[in-house]
Amino acid sequence: MQQNPAFSLNWLLTVGEVAERSGLAVSALHFYEVKGLISSIRTRGNQRRYGRDVLRRLGIIKVAQRVGIPLAEIQAAFETLPQGRTPTVEDWKRLSALWKNDLDARIKQLSLLRDHLTSCIGCGCLSIEACPLRNPFDVLGKDGVGARLLEPDA
Ligand code: FES
Repeated sequence: MQQNPAFSLNWLLTVGEVAERSGLAVSALHFYEVKGLISSIRTRGNQRRYGRDVLRRLGIIKVAQRVGIPLAEIQAAFETLPQGRTPTVEDWKRLSALWKNDLDARIKQLSLLRDHLTSCIGCGCLSIEACPLRNPFDVLGKDGVGARLLEPDA
């Protein structure tokens, strides 16, 4: 929580107002604040107050989470935005373009997993060698057999 003299207390929102307008629980707002996704200032009575840009940031968080963007990636993207300014349409275009490749890769991976699921239905073996879901891409297997992570020089 930083003090920003540019904020007027009349312009700021209480945590309850932000919760009501965003449709998020107060606990979610506190969580996002702890994670550095949103920020507030404190009144003399030690109450949180949020700039109105927080509503747009929360909107972006909700949309990004809906498409599966991890909070850490959302946070990294937000770090490229100036504090105290509402993210603009141009900001959203840039952020969404950043996440598109990630999303495409995830969709491709999930499609592969979905296609392999058919062979697992009713099987239950979960075999490391045979099950495409247990070991979908056999990444370490390309380097050799055995517990590869326990033998870094192998
Ligand atoms: S559970 Fe047997 S192949 Fe996946």
